[in-house]
Amino acid sequence: MRVFEKISETHNFLKTVKARGLSVGFVPTMGALHRGHISLIEQSLKENNFTVCSIFVNPIQFNKKSDLKNYPRETTSDFQKLKSSGCNMVFMPSNDEMYPEPVNTQYDFGQLDKVMEGKHRPGHFNGVAIVVRKLFEIIMPDKAYFGEKDFQQLAIIQYLVKKNNIPVNIVPCPIIRENDGLAMSSRNVRLTPAERKEAPVIFQLLKQAKEKVPSLPVEASGKWIKEEFNKYPSIKFEYFEIVDMETLQPVKEWGECKKIIACVAVHLGKIRLIDNIILIS
Ligand code: PAF
Repeated sequence: MRVFEKISETHNFLKTVKARGLSVGFVPTMGALHRGHISLIEQSLKENNFTVCSIFVNPIQFNKKSDLKNYPRETTSDFQKLKSSGCNMVFMPSNDEMYPEPVNTQYDFGQLDKVMEGKHRPGHFNGVAIVVRKLFEIIMPDKAYFGEKDFQQLAIIQYLVKKNNIPVNIVPCPIIRENDGLAMSSRNVRLTPAERKEAPVIFQLLKQAKEKVPSLPVEASGKWIKEEFNKYPSIKFEYFEIVDMETLQPVKEWGECKKIIACVAVHLGKIRLIDNIILIS
């Protein structure tokens, strides 16, 4: 597995890969890799001749300094996992390499970032878009793989690529869960044993919410799930939104659009977790 830290070396090397007619698949990550990430690598390996993974904890997408400071960093085990997955190359730049000067780009995502994560984490998606666009320019992938757990991020990236005619095919990949249903996330390792035990309730409640559709009106479903989460004193409920899968705008009635997804964010102690479930597709 090749490891690169410098942008120019990475770009030049990948130019030679592409000149040989090989297709390049790309999995951007912030490290602390788990089976969810490895499933993206595996999908890329199946669909491309050459797979690149980036590991970069992007400072400009964190809206809380403490979250950036505490974000897990596990380079040695990340490398081992990537090697055994068969990944061909890792790009691991420093902050100075990625941002030698402050970046002021402001993206307009229309209404896509006015809800859910965008509403609760101001500036987050702008930071994601800046780094993803820069990584795409460096890696020049044919396909890039994103997990559906970060459903709003996926929608924003798809919008970014379409609006700016970026020649990368975005491949959405299913959520990978632990045996007890908890969606895999790099943040899970920071849960205390007691919080980890409580965490599967997030997906259990999402599944119950899905069973209630459409017997309960949309608004009542939202109220019901909030009450259910509030029964767990260790869980701090942040939002539960039932939205149109394409526009991400809140839905008022079940018949309003064809594809509907429910997205949730909660805090367990110091850790913020998100998850989602498709209600109607
Ligand atoms: O989903 C993530 O891990 C990050 O937001 C990404 C896409 C690697 C950009 O930093």
